[in-house]
Amino acid sequence: MKLAVLKETDSGETRVAVVPKSIKKLKDLGFDVVVQASAGSAAAFTDDDYTNAGATIATDNLAAMQGADLIVKVNPPSDQEVGALQKGQIWMSQLFHRLNEPLVKALQDKGVSAFSLDAMPRISRAQSMDVLSSQSNLSGYKSVITGADNLGKIFPMLMTAAGTVTPAKVLIFGVGVAGLQAIATAKRLGAIVEATDVRPECKEQTESLGAKFISVEDDGVKTEGGYAKEVTDEYLAKQKEAVNKSLAQADLVITTALVQGAKAPVLISEEQIELMKNGSVIVDMAVAKGGNTALSKSDQTVHHNGVKIVGVSNFPAQIPTNSSELLSRNIDTFLGHLVEDGAFKWDMEDEITSGTLIVNNQSATA
Ligand code: NAI
Repeated sequence: MKLAVLKETDSGETRVAVVPKSIKKLKDLGFDVVVQASAGSAAAFTDDDYTNAGATIATDNLAAMQGADLIVKVNPPSDQEVGALQKGQIWMSQLFHRLNEPLVKALQDKGVSAFSLDAMPRISRAQSMDVLSSQSNLSGYKSVITGADNLGKIFPMLMTAAGTVTPAKVLIFGVGVAGLQAIATAKRLGAIVEATDVRPECKEQTESLGAKFISVEDDGVKTEGGYAKEVTDEYLAKQKEAVNKSLAQADLVITTALVQGAKAPVLISEEQIELMKNGSVIVDMAVAKGGNTALSKSDQTVHHNGVKIVGVSNFPAQIPTNSSELLSRNIDTFLGHLVEDGAFKWDMEDEITSGTLIVNNQSATA
């Protein structure tokens, strides 16, 4: 089986789907790996690294795709790549299929099969293949570093001959994968950390990291499979009341709130931003989904009343070496799940396979 690894085409994307370290595992699974020239260069993996690991290099994406059984990429295919797909080939990348109906239709029309990495079910068995979790974890770290970089203050308490510096106060909305890592990172840097989430089970997790949990007394939240499904307006109003005192004291606010399958909830209104201290910073991780504040703008820093609102849509692309390494591990583990004895073997009864196979044009299902 031939596996092609393509170079990313989205602007600002620096990751690569497969790193040299995964090549041996892929070869053991039965793949000959072809990598598009310079696919890994922005993530610090050279073509030589790939050839030394046992892959071959193709001059461009079309040459890499030619005759491939499986084509992998981090992001959805470009129009040119969709055009070049051959019947029977298998595509694997993040597809964000719910937001990308025309792409799904185009893949169906091409007679290919396509796996969407971002559709991995959030079950413990799939954790090692879950790209959203691996990337959110790293992004939670980077969001704190970005916040620290934008703040005119340091995080830890410091006693010096010239006086004592008080520790920074950090407030985190959403204690999922990104939020938990943000709490841990801010604590490691010496900040005083508070966090809030609609899911009551987050209290214990927050406290186990040494942070304070802000509870909102309301049962207007539905959750399912570790995701918030629906949050009522009454809940959001009560949450505003509960967090306003902390907002007014915070130096850095990180927002990571996500409701499955919906636009990001707006948790911080313009009036609330105006409660915040001069010089404070908000890092909005949900900005690509509309944002958790009323003023966030994708890949821009908005200044309002002395507060900076930093919207970064692709944190993993700022730390491409590690994010590619984890992605690649997710992908090689997933392929280990889909391949048996050197051939694809798809069990459509399996939740991981059926959940991620968004376009099925194969007769190879078990
Ligand atoms: P997650 O689903 O693990 O966590 C989201 C959390 O938000 C959940 O715990 C949920 O209960 C909570 N939540 C929902 N409504 C809330 C509310 N009203 N108040 C407080 N908490 C609420 O998601 P994950 O993986 O941690 O990602 C978080 C966000 O960061 C998502 O919007 C994701 O798309 C985004 N993200 C952004 C990246 C970037 O580069 N900007 C990279 C990775 C993730």
